[in-house]
Amino acid sequence: MRTLREIAALRETLGDCRRRCQRIALVPTMGNLHAGHLALVESARRYGDVVVATIFVNPMQFGAGEDLDAYPRTLAEDQEKLESAGCDLLFAPTTATIYPRGLEAQTRVSVPGVSQGLCGGSRPGHFDGVATVVSMLFNLVQPDVACFGEKDYQQLAVIRQLVADLHFPIELVGVPIVRAEDGLALSSRNGYLDPDQRAIAPRLYRTLCELRDALEGGEAIDTTLATGLERLRDAGFEPDYLELRAPDLGAVTATTRDAVLLAAARLGPTRLIDNLALTLPR
Ligand code: PAF
Repeated sequence: MRTLREIAALRETLGDCRRRCQRIALVPTMGNLHAGHLALVESARRYGDVVVATIFVNPMQFGAGEDLDAYPRTLAEDQEKLESAGCDLLFAPTTATIYPRGLEAQTRVSVPGVSQGLCGGSRPGHFDGVATVVSMLFNLVQPDVACFGEKDYQQLAVIRQLVADLHFPIELVGVPIVRAEDGLALSSRNGYLDPDQRAIAPRLYRTLCELRDALEGGEAIDTTLATGLERLRDAGFEPDYLELRAPDLGAVTATTRDAVLLAAARLGPTRLIDNLALTLPR
């Protein structure tokens, strides 16, 4: 696996791949890779002839006071993991390469509607940062297919809208959440949890499972969500949101059957997110 740091080298290498009519599959990441990321690489291998991963801790998607500086940078370990997973090319640019004129001067991409509320409500500007860097990566790599994890459910919805609105000829693949044995969704931020918090963390998923069972059993949505918030607080979380939405993140109506429960909650300084699909009864 080659690691490239410069845009010109990336374009040249990918130009060769395209001339050989190879299908390019992209896995964008911020590094500190875990089994969830490696599932994205595995999926990309099924969809493409050449798998390109990117590692870039994107400052534009972090708000003031968030964990940009603390975000783990583990390039050497990540390179080994990507190589073993069958990744062909890693693009790991510097911030100056991606934003040569600085963040303030940078042209931005904003996806209205789907970026609002949920994580967009608790992290203002976050999805503009994601949409901007993902558009740039799509432009630099020009992949045929791109794989994103379903844990970041709203992020995937934002990127779907972006691909449609900007007419990127890219097939998007959502890859199911990879969980630890106790149910905790894998995330680079799990590494911030101390042992006590790590023991509590799976309660987020367990609560979602209990709420799913209640909702599928016909319990009222409002009271079920209120119970869920109470359970999370009792367990030691500080919930950001707990919501039931239609799969496209629109509001649930009387005719909605397929739906998704979405939650974000803090355990100390660590913000965890998770989601779970369910089917409402008739
Ligand atoms: O999901 C992530 O790791 C990031 O938000 C992404 C898509 C790589 C953009 O920086």
